[in-house]
Amino acid sequence: MTMVGWGLANVCLEARTAEGVNAFHPGKAWLDTDGKPISAFGGGVLHHRGVYYWFGEIMDGKTIKHDVALRGISCYSSRDLYQWKYEGNVLPAVKNDPSSDLAPGKVAERPKVVYNRRTRQFVMWLHVDRRDYKSARAGVAVSDRPTGPYRYMGSCRPNGAQSRDLTLFQDRDGKAYLIFASEENRTMHIAQLDADYLKPDGVVTRVFVDQFREAPAAFEYQGRYFLITSKCAGWAPSAALYAVATSMLGPWKTMGNPTVGPGSDKTFNSQSTYVLPVAGRPGAFIFMADRWNPNNLPDSRYVWLPISVHRDIVQIAWRDQWNLSVFK
Ligand code: DGJ
Repeated sequence: MTMVGWGLANVCLEARTAEGVNAFHPGKAWLDTDGKPISAFGGGVLHHRGVYYWFGEIMDGKTIKHDVALRGISCYSSRDLYQWKYEGNVLPAVKNDPSSDLAPGKVAERPKVVYNRRTRQFVMWLHVDRRDYKSARAGVAVSDRPTGPYRYMGSCRPNGAQSRDLTLFQDRDGKAYLIFASEENRTMHIAQLDADYLKPDGVVTRVFVDQFREAPAAFEYQGRYFLITSKCAGWAPSAALYAVATSMLGPWKTMGNPTVGPGSDKTFNSQSTYVLPVAGRPGAFIFMADRWNPNNLPDSRYVWLPISVHRDIVQIAWRDQWNLSVFK
């Protein structure tokens, strides 16, 4: 296989520090700095003032019919991306109000957080739903600190449209976009948010029309915008598909499967959730995915892999282990 763009180094040197091993081990158990398994599924990462914050779904307890009780949204912090400190449940389930979007019997998935420089607020969007996934809404919460607690502001169907799997993307010009599976998951919508990032401003485009894609993860490099997705397949892995555009609002061009090599037909047994730009290294991006264990969701794993980008071409190859030195 020929790697393009970043020319990812083939040799992965494992760097050790006093604190531990500095390497990613895709698909293996990942412990936080307290030695507990990281519980941050369907997650996303915010970089703010030198610190990365990883937000995700807390999953613990028993999986019943492919479901676990809603516990809330976790936040972990890190300066090096390898070692993560648990910062707490920043948007806990609401236990005393069964009608709340955040009641333990509901679903809250795929949280993503961006910082609004104008309002100086951290804004989280997440998919909120009933267990039967029929309510299909996007919830929003805010905090004046990255580590929360986040204040839940309510939910909506963006521009009146269903919203299931979602992600956020913040552009260089300060505009932010909510990207979500809509129209019974047939088609994805990209909805521009208002200046406060608290609601859609009505500008919207449709992408992957009639393609049944979900698990969106967006990033930008050198004026090209990329959107990686999975097939709608429940908790099962599927082949990824990406599209490219010169603006978030399109027009988008469907490309193909960004993953290459053995296992690429099932995204190396994982499902996309986010693309993490490595701070201070232009062109260095990490593909973040969940390797679901449908029979025991809390025992799912993370698959983080380096992305190689060259013009319109995105490539993601499997590595048993790697570290940031691959971004030469
Ligand atoms: C696939 C989605 O990507 C997940 O976030 C979750 O909603 C499952 N479907 C539920 O089956």
